[in-house]
Amino acid sequence: MALGKRLSEAADLVTVALDELLPRAEGPEQRLTEAMRYAALGPGKRLRPFFAIETGRMFDLDERAVLRAACALECIQAYSLIHDDLPSMDDDDMRRGRPTVHRAYDEATAILAGDALQTFAFEILADPDTHHDGAVRADMVLKLALASGARGMCGGQMIDMLGVRDDLGAVARMQRLKTGALIAVSFELPLVMAHAGDAERHALMAFAQDIGLAYQIVDDLLDIEGDSAVLGKKAGKDAEKGKANYVTLLGADAARERLALLAEQTKSHLDPFGPRADFLRASVDFVLDRRN
Ligand code: IPE
Ligand code: IPE
Ligand code: MG
Ligand code: MG
Ligand code: MG
Repeated sequence: MALGKRLSEAADLVTVALDELLPRAEGPEQRLTEAMRYAALGPGKRLRPFFAIETGRMFDLDERAVLRAACALECIQAYSLIHDDLPSMDDDDMRRGRPTVHRAYDEATAILAGDALQTFAFEILADPDTHHDGAVRADMVLKLALASGARGMCGGQMIDMLGVRDDLGAVARMQRLKTGALIAVSFELPLVMAHAGDAERHALMAFAQDIGLAYQIVDDLLDIEGDSAVLGKKAGKDAEKGKANYVTLLGADAARERLALLAEQTKSHLDPFGPRADFLRASVDFVLDRRN
């Protein structure tokens, strides 16, 4: 099976599962549940869920259980994007090819939809349907909380808002928190479910770190070179806001060179898994070649 088909199948599985899990739009709070659904069911690439699902397959985990973890990851992703787009943050009007949540609804609804999607992610993980062993569920909750909070995504977003110094080390640290942490936990959740050993864990964490870095460099390149219509979000925003990132610091050519070197290194972390990791291996090229 080609990677494109594997990705779109995983994305469809997640969309159907999220549709079933998310609260229905009813009652006086209907506006909130509608906005949550609008954001979470929108046409995202579902890359983090894909990473979780593929890792789950490598360890022969129960597909339904891993799908729940994948849905939790996508709820955090959707929440982080709603808040990232708010006027007080990046002030964006378009996301995933459609008006952002605060544009389609209003700011208060967008804040609440983000909040509720975040707590919903933890509700999914804490539910006994996700894993029979409460200790495993607690570890999954802890890992997702660490990746999302002040020492993870939110911390990275704070650094992004304050603006980093023009030095690559500071940009790298921001990336590890802002986008790297959530990508890494996409591998960690199934690793926890699988009771994976240290060697496998270290190999996949190294892979996660490198693919997360590649992902962000491509995001920064696309902001400069991408087409808003294809991206589904406005291009040129980083320059407009004077944000320092890999591409503003290195220049586009050097950033592309770095990506080419990173590609082989990233794939090499999967060597211990052999052909079991073929789809994850192929996803490196997908991340590098993506246009949105
Ligand atoms: C966008 O993430 C924000 C960053 C991490 C740079 P994605 O590019 O994965 O966005 P969706 O989920 O596919 O919309
Ligand atoms: C946002 O990074 C990462 C999140 C934690 C949501 P960006 O601000 O670069 O993401 P885009 O470019 O708006 O998708
Ligand atoms: Mg941002
Ligand atoms: Mg943004
Ligand atoms: Mg960006």
